[in-house]
Amino acid sequence: MNWDDAAQAAPDRLLGAAADSDDQAVEAALRPKDLGEFVGQERVREQLDLVLKAARKRGGTADHVLLSGAPGLGKTTLSMIIAAEMGAPIRITSGPAIQHAGDLAAILSSLAEGEVLFLDEIHRMSRPAEEMLYMAMEDFRVDVIVGKGPGATAIPLELPPFTLVGATTRAGLLPPPLRDRFGFTGHMEFYAPAELERVIHRSAGLLDVAVDTAGAAEIAGRSRGTPRIANRLLRRVRDYAQVRADGVVTRQTAAKALEVYEVDARGLDRLDRAVLRALLTLFGGGPVGLSTLAVAVGEERETVEEVAEPFLVREGLLARTPRGRVATAAAWTHLGLVPPQHSGGAGPGTGPGQTGLFGP
Ligand SMILES: Nc1ncnc2c1ncn2[C@@H]1O[C@H](COP(=O)(O)OP(=O)(O)O)[C@@H](O)[C@H]1O
Ligand SMILES: [Mg+2]
Repeated sequence: MNWDDAAQAAPDRLLGAAADSDDQAVEAALRPKDLGEFVGQERVREQLDLVLKAARKRGGTADHVLLSGAPGLGKTTLSMIIAAEMGAPIRITSGPAIQHAGDLAAILSSLAEGEVLFLDEIHRMSRPAEEMLYMAMEDFRVDVIVGKGPGATAIPLELPPFTLVGATTRAGLLPPPLRDRFGFTGHMEFYAPAELERVIHRSAGLLDVAVDTAGAAEIAGRSRGTPRIANRLLRRVRDYAQVRADGVVTRQTAAKALEVYEVDARGLDRLDRAVLRALLTLFGGGPVGLSTLAVAVGEERETVEEVAEPFLVREGLLARTPRGRVATAAAWTHLGLVPPQHSGGAGPGTGPGQTGLFGP
């Protein structure tokens, strides 16, 4: 599965973890500015704190940092915090924006000493740029090729020491030589509900929205472990509270608002539930092939596989098996349905002796 494709498959999904244009406008205001304000990710935070403090003590630049994790968990935010903590300027670019090695050379050669270069989606950089980056990371040097064909010459160019912060949703896709050149890799995890509550209270303060404890908990439980989604749901709930209630976000207001947006108590949306419902009611809980399931919900195969399934799998509601998709006991409970009597996953009407009109 591919996060990038998933984002493209459902760009405006309320529960999508990729940033939409609405998010981008608000996110700058909601970003924690230093490590102390950054909620959760205890391990990454502590390790990074040591890396940065040691670098400051030495009076040098920090080691290169790789941040990996799903969209919306705080990779961009952490990169800005790294620069802020080092008192360094930050340059922001992304893998897809660097298609030619020359693009990268131009950026690298204009860095100031100690500057942080944030390379988002680093797994999507072109091969030649990647190779140039190896040398830049290791030796703070690039070879700029001047001219073409047999007359081309490589002119070595010294770079000031800088800190590369790479971010990727797919650390496994990075070539080992690139991965090895990072002094520190932080793996970002999904957030616990209590951590998301803290994110929500913090954002509510900044957005001047009144949220009580139970209201924040209600939103946190539906946010799929992702701060970006928590912040987005908070804004939708705020709208509801202002239009249909007294402006205060309570448990009841949050629940009612998210019902309007078809986000259920566990953070499933309409598509997620449609997939589960089809699996349970049409195929007795499976196993059923992906294509068959996709046709049953009237969606593309890729949409089901990349948009709906990852969260259902993570939540333990659906399993991908060699024989097909299978619903778990929790799936039946969540949709309030009763599993068929037969054991072994066979649905009603598929037992031996059944030779339907279109049977084998
Ligand atoms: N640990 C955190 N504490 C508070 N807010 C966070 C945290 N992580 C992410 N956020 C919020 O979530 C939003 C998305 O974070 P971002 O850094 O853009 O995620 P990513 O780059 O991993 O997709 C930001 O606006 C930020 O306010
Ligand atoms: Mg980002």
